[in-house]
Amino acid sequence: MIIPLIDKLRQEHRLSTEEYKALLLCQDADTLKYLQEQAREVSLEQFGNRVFIRGLIEITNHCHNNCYYCGIRKGNQSVLRYELTREDILECCREGYTLGFRTFVLQGGETSSVKDDFILETVTAIHREFPDCAITLSLGEKSRKTYEHFFRAGANRYLLRHETHNEEHYHHLHPDKMSIRQRLQCLAWLKEIGYQTGTGIMVGSPGQNTDHLVEDLLFIEQFHPEMIGIGPFIPHHDTPFAACPPGSMEMTLKLLSIFRLMHPKVLLPSTTALATLAPDGRERGILAGANVVMPNLSPPEQRNKYSLYDNKASLGAEAAEGLQQLEEKLTAIGYRISKERGDY
Ligand code: 5AD
Repeated sequence: MIIPLIDKLRQEHRLSTEEYKALLLCQDADTLKYLQEQAREVSLEQFGNRVFIRGLIEITNHCHNNCYYCGIRKGNQSVLRYELTREDILECCREGYTLGFRTFVLQGGETSSVKDDFILETVTAIHREFPDCAITLSLGEKSRKTYEHFFRAGANRYLLRHETHNEEHYHHLHPDKMSIRQRLQCLAWLKEIGYQTGTGIMVGSPGQNTDHLVEDLLFIEQFHPEMIGIGPFIPHHDTPFAACPPGSMEMTLKLLSIFRLMHPKVLLPSTTALATLAPDGRERGILAGANVVMPNLSPPEQRNKYSLYDNKASLGAEAAEGLQQLEEKLTAIGYRISKERGDY
């Protein structure tokens, strides 16, 4: 019986390895509905029917990594590479601020063509112009010193998905020079420095099995991140994983609900990848326990170049300028946009 496990997870916020596995393997529709209801209740208790919004600014698609799943991998010669100037980024923030955003997320590939000093000065400038806003960085692996400098300049949060906690699976997804050890070291530094730290995985990435997911749950349980970013793997046509099937909606929703029950206060986005997988994906994520959405605030003429996967949504309710449409979609399921900063 799985229902008692769901009740236990809600009360005690953790399960044993075997119990997590049983929950992940459960396919019974009524049980999964119960899981979602429990997660939604917890989310409503913690946040009411409010969904936080974050303005996502994709500052560059240059990347020196060659992750097998990602469309902006170094080896993809077909990408038109770009980097935003400081003024471009500040313009995005100004537009976002007017629309009501109070968190800006600067995301980009890992590249030395955008210098750490440039990031530092940009964070300083955003912090000076918008002292009431949170600044989130999502720029991959850096040295501890660099993370410290960014933090002192005014960055508050950092997103760095671990992608998979299993070493063998990590090597199935990434070339040899990347390692899960380094990724986990970076996450530990970020937390120590004082960032609200986010990690997470792709659901249904090639080679992923239930045991890997259990490992991810156990890692996330003990790491206790302030944010958890998960979305389905979606193939990109110019990558080695072009022919692999996408991750499933059901497993993504199930994991969102499990994370909500594990960590009631965690900031949990209903991601763009979920909204790309199905037209109602974003709303289904919210109803499964997510409480954050991250509309795209990048300059519209660059958006299609930040193609992590095929058909990545960046229009309508996924666009910052489509906030009205997002509000309507949320209203239809009984939720509203919160224009607060939404710290952990
Ligand atoms: N499908 C889904 N998510 C992807 N990401 C990168 N490539 C893909 C893909 N093909 C995710 C990774 C990364 C985040 C920025 O985007 O998990 O951490």
